[in-house]
Amino acid sequence: MTQSGAITSKMAENRTFPPPAKFVEQANIKSLDEYRRMYEQSIRQPEEFWGKIAEGFHWFKKWDKVRDWKEPDVKWFVGAKTNVSYNCLDLQIEKGRGNHPAILFEGEPGDVRKITFKELRTEVCKFANVLKKLGVKKGDRVTIYMPMIPELPIAMLACARIGAPHSIIFGGFSATAISDRVGDADSHIIITCDGGWRRGKVVPLKATVDEALEIDRRVKQVVVFKRIGEQAKVTMKAGRDFWWHDLMKEASADCPAEQCDAEDPLFLLYTSGSTGKPKGIKHTTAGYMVYTAFTSKMIFDLKPNDLMWCTADIGWVTGHSYVVYGILQNGVTSLIYEGSPDFPNWERFWTMIEKHKPTVFYTAPTAIRAFMKQGRQLVDKHDLSSLRLLGSVGEPINPEAWMWYHEVVGRKSCPIVDTWWQTETGGILITPLPGITDTKPGSATRPFFGVEPDVVDRSGKTVNVNEGGLLVIRQPWPAMLRTVWGDHDRFKRTYWSDIKGCYFTGDGARRDADGYYWLMGRVDDVLNVSGHRLGTAEVESALVAHEAVAEAAVVGMPHEIKGEGIAAFVTLRKGFTASDELKKALDAHVVKEIGAIARPDQIRFSEALPKTRSGKIMRRLLREIAAGGDVKGDTTTLEDFNVINKLRQDDES
Ligand code: WTA
Repeated sequence: MTQSGAITSKMAENRTFPPPAKFVEQANIKSLDEYRRMYEQSIRQPEEFWGKIAEGFHWFKKWDKVRDWKEPDVKWFVGAKTNVSYNCLDLQIEKGRGNHPAILFEGEPGDVRKITFKELRTEVCKFANVLKKLGVKKGDRVTIYMPMIPELPIAMLACARIGAPHSIIFGGFSATAISDRVGDADSHIIITCDGGWRRGKVVPLKATVDEALEIDRRVKQVVVFKRIGEQAKVTMKAGRDFWWHDLMKEASADCPAEQCDAEDPLFLLYTSGSTGKPKGIKHTTAGYMVYTAFTSKMIFDLKPNDLMWCTADIGWVTGHSYVVYGILQNGVTSLIYEGSPDFPNWERFWTMIEKHKPTVFYTAPTAIRAFMKQGRQLVDKHDLSSLRLLGSVGEPINPEAWMWYHEVVGRKSCPIVDTWWQTETGGILITPLPGITDTKPGSATRPFFGVEPDVVDRSGKTVNVNEGGLLVIRQPWPAMLRTVWGDHDRFKRTYWSDIKGCYFTGDGARRDADGYYWLMGRVDDVLNVSGHRLGTAEVESALVAHEAVAEAAVVGMPHEIKGEGIAAFVTLRKGFTASDELKKALDAHVVKEIGAIARPDQIRFSEALPKTRSGKIMRRLLREIAAGGDVKGDTTTLEDFNVINKLRQDDES
């Protein structure tokens, strides 16, 4: 565990916003007493609490025991048999929601599709049969690399239907990133598209997959959905590559859902850590299913006629849980948009809200800051009166952005749920409940049911009110990750060894006198760039893989829109000299190794990196230099004072 200094920052924010009376009247939870009672029970008697919640789901066989907890290993609904796709589709159809739209899709070019629960089940069953025919068996990992089109949830749910865990890779990742993940998951099949639309251009997904498969050759089959057509210019390799529509033509629409064990893996999702390559976070079936459905219902206050618009890409955990699994299980329509918020202009989202009338809108602070910059007049031109609830996720929301969201998008009449969680947590852990929580701009407020957070010092002792510390969770919740794929030791080391007896989040936080949590960013070497997680180690290893680079140190820097930007300090090998061309080449190299989300905001060359006598890179110092601030603290342990001086000169030029 390293220390970024983030946990000492303070935020003074005293404004509170009670839920609007009109919202309270209809809210799923409207009494603070009811919350307190339920919360108490969820912590003291978790088995009774979750057992009761789980009654409302479909089980082929009920559990023998609700929770089996032997730190750090937990099992939920032990012995139960269920299927997540059944709960998302068949159960909804049984409840009379068959003709209700499950997905409302708008492509970037403006094409719209509505898919009912019945139609979705048909597509899912057909694709599940396609997978079976290709030889995919229960337990096989299926890699998915697709844009935000309905075939992505169709592919996911088809995997869930046959018990084959999916591993979705965000469409912005590069060929190298794909091959790393395919290799780690030992996956032999990829579902992709000829391409997707982004800012009017074709994102060449299939070509990127082809490149990835040159690096790692284990993949035997590639299924390609035709989203673009002619313009995508794909090449199909006979015997390996198949068109989705060809396979679907012959597939039967009947595919009984596999009876999965409660603890069978549902999916892997790769995320960045403070060291090494991204890790495959493993989520299992029943706990994740129950937790995402219940959080969706309570936090987004879902009702049958809601239209949920979560703008996250399904390639991230937010999309897994709150575009697909949690929302469909409530029989609610999920709005999916393929493209970029600034295409053809910055009014795209507001135009879509006016047209499709979503009731719940869930997005990231980085997007809100980008909209703020464009000015409120672009929002004010549109009728956003369908919205009744707003959500924020992915990074701390600064109070200015919160207020703008509240006043401009929410017209002061929508509660805001600032939801804190992680890929590892599977679902939201700290959040307001919109009908009862008085919100404070910038605070994620209180724990959800079953979640027992604490703020502690490095020895594990609870810190005082308003004192910064490390955020930990004291007992397991149903959607907790079960392991890091293929590396249970890494799971134990990363989450269960820094602070004894609890799950360590990697985040800094403080708790105020009202028991509200204020998240203060990561305390490890993980960056949060536009709400996307990136390990500094990953960017560093991408840089040193370039022939010109001897050593690299990557740190975060404040960024007006992204929240955090990427600053890279680089020393060069003999024979290479610093130049703008080289900067550009390194930039392109990082994009090739990881993807455009990892493109450095600053690359700075130096003769040597500042290190302590024991050889550790002085990251705090680099962060201060990158932020353009003064160099503070004790620098006498530096190996080379000239280094600092040189860097300071660069800073001034
Ligand atoms: C950060 C995204 C403050 C946090 C769901 C966490 C937040 C990391 C919030 C997980 C929030 C997420 N307030 N910080 N509301 N939500 N974070 O795995 O640092 O992509 O550890 O999951 O994002 O990012 P991940």
